[in-house]
Amino acid sequence: MGRTDGELLYEKVGNEITRMIEGGTYRPGDRLPSIRQLSSRFGVSINTAMQAYAGLEDRHIIEARPQSGYYVCARAPEIVDDPLPRSDRMAPAEVTISDLCQQIIRNMTNDSLLPLGSAIPHHSHLPVEKLSRIMASELRMHGKQSISYMMAPGCERLRKQIAKRSILTGVSVRPDEVLITSGCVEAVLLALRATCRAGDTIAVESPFYFNFLQLVAEMGLKALEIPSTPREGISLEALRYAIEQNKISACLVIPNFGNPLGSLMPDEKKQELVSLLAEHEIPLIEDDIYGDLVFGNDRPIAAKAFDRKGLVIYCSSFSKTIAPGYRVGWIIGGRFQKEIERLKMMINLATSSPTQLALAEFLATGGYDHHLRSIRRIYARNMSRMTELIARHFPEGTKITRPKGGFILWVEMPRDVDALKLYHEGLEHDISITPGPLFTLTNKFGNNIRLSAAYMDEQVERAIETLGRLATRR
Ligand SMILES: Cc1ncc(COP(=O)(O)O)c(C=O)c1O
Repeated sequence: MGRTDGELLYEKVGNEITRMIEGGTYRPGDRLPSIRQLSSRFGVSINTAMQAYAGLEDRHIIEARPQSGYYVCARAPEIVDDPLPRSDRMAPAEVTISDLCQQIIRNMTNDSLLPLGSAIPHHSHLPVEKLSRIMASELRMHGKQSISYMMAPGCERLRKQIAKRSILTGVSVRPDEVLITSGCVEAVLLALRATCRAGDTIAVESPFYFNFLQLVAEMGLKALEIPSTPREGISLEALRYAIEQNKISACLVIPNFGNPLGSLMPDEKKQELVSLLAEHEIPLIEDDIYGDLVFGNDRPIAAKAFDRKGLVIYCSSFSKTIAPGYRVGWIIGGRFQKEIERLKMMINLATSSPTQLALAEFLATGGYDHHLRSIRRIYARNMSRMTELIARHFPEGTKITRPKGGFILWVEMPRDVDALKLYHEGLEHDISITPGPLFTLTNKFGNNIRLSAAYMDEQVERAIETLGRLATRR
């Protein structure tokens, strides 16, 4: 490795680029020279140039965008993994159904509001035309089947496609180990039903997707919130402590690009999580709904990949990637599969047949991978743009997560900004956001909001500016 004045060569190149960024030559969002240009400009090898950029990426000064190049990151500080709260303050909470939660869910499909808080993909990025054509042709070809019940476990052709793709998540299953559900929420509901009884305690991440917190409440369960960090997800140390102190019936987590933190659990941590729970015979309910939305080509594996005891229940759906309104998801229930199948039949017999047929054909004809490549690029670009805008317009001291997939950002504003007040003020400007307090049952995250970068245009850009102004005016 070359060394100049005590500096390694790649560090020297990296420092030079950093100086140019700090000096304003390259501004947030600007494209940087390619690896080849960098190597020729500094007279260093391609390897050294790559190392220089890798170092800057690790420090979140620059970012690589798939098939596009290297760009300067927005300047807002990243939400780093804060010291976790002391585990002995954790206690299971009784859940009360919040009116606000209902109002926010209703707002998500209110056309007069800009849905900046909702984790719903925008129709302009979904294969609407193609799916409609496929659906029409499936209905013509399989008329009788399309109006009949497809009893659990559901459409065989679709289960085959899902089983084939599961290899990408590190899980090898046969089609008969997959059961089709009406979306991921139903999959999680079935998993909770199969593993818990009213009054039981389940461990969840904190902050956590509010709909699941409400679901837990509806089922008469108690949620024990385990601190989670933006970089690595649920704290295993806190979970271990919680298991020692409480009787936990199941653990529900979103290891790949969780909602709302966007954290990606490293593989070793997924493995550790699975073995920790297996040691205590506690089922893990894994929601992998965002896993396919990784920025780049390396889809993260599922925690289920480390399951040796059939104790991990894998849940997902096509709601974030293809069509939320189709209501098609699936569950791989391991040792609970039989019970899950019984429950599915009892609760609603079957999932809608036409949408299962259409999705089976869409997956079989190869449209999905092409579509994924396109939306991954769009979301990576949108997240970067939104980060840039928040950094520019939100009050000094605002921090933002930097997920490597999905389209959700978690924003931490200065302590004196009230997220609930901002939510109500946003509504007066026809903007809907999701305030932080919804993501817990224990009165936290009062200065946080969740934003969605599913769609970017000038109206969204103006809305971020408006929110920033409102948050600054406190
Ligand atoms: C983590 C997570 N799981 C599940 C869902 C909903 O899934 P579905 O629409 O497939 O029921 C959402 C939607 O926001 C989500 O964020």
